[in-house]
Amino acid sequence: MIFRQFFDNISSTYTYLIASGKGREALIIDPVLDNVDQYIQLLNQLDLRLVKVIDTHIHADHVSGISELRDKTKCITLMGEHAPADIVSMRVKDNENLKIENINLTAMYTPGHTDDSYSFLMNDRVFTGDALLIKGTGRTDFQNGDPYDSYKSLFERLLKLPEDTYIYPAHDYKGESVSTIGEEKKFNPRLQVSSAQEYAYIMNNLNLDNPKQMDIVIPKNISMGISIEKQKKLNGILFEELKDIILNKNCQLIDLREKSEIINEPSLDNSINVPYLNLQKYLNSKKNELSKTKLIFYCAVGERSSLAVQICSSYNLKNVCHLVGGIKGIKDS
Ligand SMILES: [Fe+2]
Repeated sequence: MIFRQFFDNISSTYTYLIASGKGREALIIDPVLDNVDQYIQLLNQLDLRLVKVIDTHIHADHVSGISELRDKTKCITLMGEHAPADIVSMRVKDNENLKIENINLTAMYTPGHTDDSYSFLMNDRVFTGDALLIKGTGRTDFQNGDPYDSYKSLFERLLKLPEDTYIYPAHDYKGESVSTIGEEKKFNPRLQVSSAQEYAYIMNNLNLDNPKQMDIVIPKNISMGISIEKQKKLNGILFEELKDIILNKNCQLIDLREKSEIINEPSLDNSINVPYLNLQKYLNSKKNELSKTKLIFYCAVGERSSLAVQICSSYNLKNVCHLVGGIKGIKDS
């Protein structure tokens, strides 16, 4: 397995890159905008294909690199379902699995630091974001944080993992890089409490300064998606137009979502499913037939379908459009 931990000196953020081996699909957790070139260099050196990029929550202390990575690599952006982000390609729920080649992660909803905080469990290790830090826990005094939610996420979820589970947090300010559940149970001063009230008292009396650029950084991190206006410019069509176009026999409606998403929200009638990560394989195998067909892509929120239109232009396929806002757009209209 390839497992790398990057450190951002300015915000003390840890970013993780994971892949099952050279030449395979890769995943990045909590990227920092300023360091995107560094991640891309390593991806290229190890011949990795970045397919998913995750933010554990909306960060307040650094600008996320997820949109830059999406634009540069056409990867899927992913967050938990509670994230207030405008548009992310895929959202996961508590206990839902997310996959890349030979690697499986389980999403755990662990609110408290913020109300959108997720941790991600991968076999012997857990990426805790700011829910659980090494010898600390994420502050709970902004972004709808709540010390009682934090206590529950810690004592009822994270600390119930096996004691030898490695903890990889999103930050460290003292030079520590990894810990275990067992070590934190014993030595984390915030966890040496006998009740939620005692924990809340500690968290409510930290008296920390706000992160320096917080008022600029949070709005930026919330609006990382491909906006509806931009989606329209990428051969976007609205649902009303779609109804007329699909009457035409020479067109193919393609659902780009993954099976786990289709279970929750069924595909539109008369469409085929080509998960976004298999799109290039599909285009390569059907190259000749597809030049005579109009392709109409759709996905959850219009982000993957926008990227699909861009990918098709590199295949010289011109008769391509996509549904602005995706399935969510239909539901909201
Ligand atoms: Fe945070």
